[in-house]
Amino acid sequence: MSTVINRDAGSVRIAPASEELKAGVENLTLPDPLGFGNLMTPIMALAYYRDGSWETPRLTALEPLRLAPHTQALHYGQAIFEGMKAYRNLGSLFQSRSLLFRPYDHANRFNRSARRLGMPPIDEEVFVETLEQLVAHVDKLVPNKFAQSLYLRPAMFGATDHLSVTPSTEYCFVVVATPSDAFFTTPIKAWIERRYSRAGAGGTGCVKAAGNYAASFAAAAPLREQGFHQLLWLDANSRTYLEEFTAMNVFIRWNGKLATPPLSDTILPGITRDSLLALAEPLGLDMEERAVAVNELLDAIRAGADIELFGCGTGAVIAPVEAVGDESGLRLCLPAPTVAPTLRKHLLDIHHGLAPAPKGWQWPVGTRKQP
Ligand SMILES: Cc1ncc(COP(=O)(O)O)c(C=O)c1O
Repeated sequence: MSTVINRDAGSVRIAPASEELKAGVENLTLPDPLGFGNLMTPIMALAYYRDGSWETPRLTALEPLRLAPHTQALHYGQAIFEGMKAYRNLGSLFQSRSLLFRPYDHANRFNRSARRLGMPPIDEEVFVETLEQLVAHVDKLVPNKFAQSLYLRPAMFGATDHLSVTPSTEYCFVVVATPSDAFFTTPIKAWIERRYSRAGAGGTGCVKAAGNYAASFAAAAPLREQGFHQLLWLDANSRTYLEEFTAMNVFIRWNGKLATPPLSDTILPGITRDSLLALAEPLGLDMEERAVAVNELLDAIRAGADIELFGCGTGAVIAPVEAVGDESGLRLCLPAPTVAPTLRKHLLDIHHGLAPAPKGWQWPVGTRKQP
């Protein structure tokens, strides 16, 4: 399977939205409070893969897709997604109105997810330009406040109408967007999941397969009623080591070092995680990738150690954990975070163009040469 669209940067022509759709955006105002998913932008990007090639995405009205009840993805879950954000440019480092964060890394991970599920990759230039064009069209709905963003959700699913247990021959690529408030602005409670596993060796844990998330819902639902916000998953083999949260990678600060589990085929290579590792040295932090046993964490908390636990991901940026619990009735509180808020502020400064970052992290929307 290969992608046929393969043009030089800046030469991909994404079909623009109609004047009527553009006018529809101008008539909208942001909800207050903004929340998450309360307002979907009225424009989405859409493309189909048929007869061995991707068509060029077009910007079109956000409306239901017509799917046959025997659409492949509905039965066999051949579906992937990305989660990324466009931030209002609040600095003077770039000219553009908004900035995408590390869009080529998201494109690359999207294609790794696609390949893992036997789906056709999308040309990275097409992926990034599609996002840029969508953001440029709905610029009015990119929130202006610090830590708010336009959350972007590229997704791909098998669209063939057939019940055979084989990969689809047709695929749908769609990108929707929603103005979003910062998530988890106050510390969260994490549930150490000891019954279910998120990912097994050789499985799909290291990509963004839709089914990974569905498999967490049954475990998470009752915990939300008890005030917990995220599941903290352990390795499926020994139930000994921290892997990650349902939608964030995990870090602990202890003994003067920040540690995060090394990547494996059961951990999603988070772009925020990677950013933190890259920022460690400039920020003067001692960071390491190492296995962290859950008992090491719990013993340290019980002993009253100066320890910090936090999650990181596109949605939350950085979410400090104030308490952990598990099914045995364990309930432990952690000291107030010290490093996590500093890291969060630094990353958000980068997201908003207020602080410089490595090349390619801050991607100015709409400044690429148009054909
Ligand atoms: C399972 C999982 N781990 C980690 C992350 C964090 O990844 P990123 O920083 O790229 O958003 C996410 C969110 O995408 C996730 O779903």
